[in-house]
Amino acid sequence: MGSTDQAKAKLEGVIYQLYPPSFKDSNGDGWGDLGGMLAQVEYLAELGISAVWIGPICDSPMEDNGYDIRDYYKIHDAYGTMEQLEELIAKLHEHDIKLMMDLVLNHTSDEHSWFEQSRSSKTNPYRDYYIWQPPSSNGEPPNNWRSFSEDSAWEWEEETGEYYLHIFDKKQPDLNWENKKMREELYTMINFWLDKGVDGFRLDAINMISKHPDFPDAPDDARHPKGQQFYKNGPKIHEFLQELHEATFGRVPGTLTLGEAPTVTMDEVILYTAPERKELDMVLQMEMIRIGKDYGHPWKNDPHWSPELLKESIVRWYKNVFGKGAYALYLNTHDHPRMIGTLFGDVSEIGGAEGKALNVAAAKAIGTFLHTLPGTPIVYQGEELGMPNADYDHPDQYRDKGTLSAYHRRIQAGESEKEILASFHARSRDGARSPMHWTGGEYAGFSEVEPWIPMSPQGKEFNAEAERSDPHSVFHHYRRLIQFRRESPILTKGDLDMLPIEEEWILAYTRTYEQETWLIILNFSDQPQTCLIDAKWSFVWEEGECLISHPKADVLTHSVFSKKEDPIKVDLLPYQSLVYRKR
Ligand code: NOJ
Repeated sequence: MGSTDQAKAKLEGVIYQLYPPSFKDSNGDGWGDLGGMLAQVEYLAELGISAVWIGPICDSPMEDNGYDIRDYYKIHDAYGTMEQLEELIAKLHEHDIKLMMDLVLNHTSDEHSWFEQSRSSKTNPYRDYYIWQPPSSNGEPPNNWRSFSEDSAWEWEEETGEYYLHIFDKKQPDLNWENKKMREELYTMINFWLDKGVDGFRLDAINMISKHPDFPDAPDDARHPKGQQFYKNGPKIHEFLQELHEATFGRVPGTLTLGEAPTVTMDEVILYTAPERKELDMVLQMEMIRIGKDYGHPWKNDPHWSPELLKESIVRWYKNVFGKGAYALYLNTHDHPRMIGTLFGDVSEIGGAEGKALNVAAAKAIGTFLHTLPGTPIVYQGEELGMPNADYDHPDQYRDKGTLSAYHRRIQAGESEKEILASFHARSRDGARSPMHWTGGEYAGFSEVEPWIPMSPQGKEFNAEAERSDPHSVFHHYRRLIQFRRESPILTKGDLDMLPIEEEWILAYTRTYEQETWLIILNFSDQPQTCLIDAKWSFVWEEGECLISHPKADVLTHSVFSKKEDPIKVDLLPYQSLVYRKR
């Protein structure tokens, strides 16, 4: 295999994102752990995924659930031991599943020994491992950048009379990548994990490691978080990534790297991921996960979203990046409420059989969509069960520090609790962090004791035990899609064409590769819809085979189309998804 083929082969299959604190508790402390992951390897194998990305498990004070690392070489006590991680790697490998670690290289915890040394004096050898600046002439922070937690991105240190930079929380100081010694220490650490047999990494906030050297002020009307144009995709980013690749991933062929690079342009994605440039294998396409949200504002949704936006984003990425660079697609992750709530409202709250049926159909539509697009799919734990977004109704139920500090700030500013909670339901990342549903029993089989974050008040019936034994479940729908993704080059390599459909809530597109065509039709609304498609597509279902049809496969495949007309009239049930294949 040539190096380009090898790079491409690495991208086939589906990645599963496992959020460690909420996946499975094995030792009865209400916090997920490596023992729980080990106990569920068969579940992952049954689902058929190719790689599992586990959130950060290194030692941490857990201010940001592990994205604040205190010791890169130690497993956090509550997760277990290094031996268990080694066992997990071996067990996953037995099932041909790769393990990807979450690598946080933009910042550490302020409790990391490097930062403790760094803050101790201006002459300490570790001072320059982080980014320190004197106050501006009026004694204020060096510039007007805001952190993701909405306060200034600079924290004052009285002892040494300077500010340090933290793009995220003040407990997460940014590392100074200009310092070669610091970079080399990171590379040694990454090689330590590669030598343990880790197969790949998801690189947290990786496009933020090169800052503008002059730290300029952002315009007053800059979008949240203010200043981002000066620390994302900065002047030395490619130099740093190429050096990182050469010193670490490049040593072990087949290592899979996935960069988290918010607001990256498509041209930059190509630079990050073109195989010959030797930087990263792929980046997360973060546009799709923002659909339905107001990205100028941390707490609002966009009431005007429509599938048109999804269509536009998919086509633009496909035309500009596909085949030149590589990207991974996701609709759910630990940083956003579950998409089923954002796109479709709280269908599960309708209750009863109707609510359940709609939830199943909506969850399946999300799955069908994700797996039939160009780009590597990432499935976030619980999505494959159709778990709803957790709707907490009291501020005490939230755990995310950013959410809680926003609560206090907004209460002080005079907003009503009702309004704040509604906005948290819309945007707080805790909605996706409620524990995984393994059974219909107490604490959903996640733990024997009360979990660190409350169970989702809704959706108990969407659990692994019930769904594994139900061939019509969301779980088995995902299983089928994942299998298609592994077996059908059309999904990984095929061309994409959007069909010109006038109805706003319907998406129809084809994938084509060599002699094969797949036609995918999705109704993204909770109402029955009718659309017209050109008669030239009739061959797909006249001579083809129906791979996916939800709901009610056998009945609907015969009634959904009126074949005699031109254009063809297609009747779709709420959230119906259809996939046809013609070879
Ligand atoms: C992105 C991670 O996904 C998020 O959870 C974390 O808070 C920030 N990076 C900071 O590490």
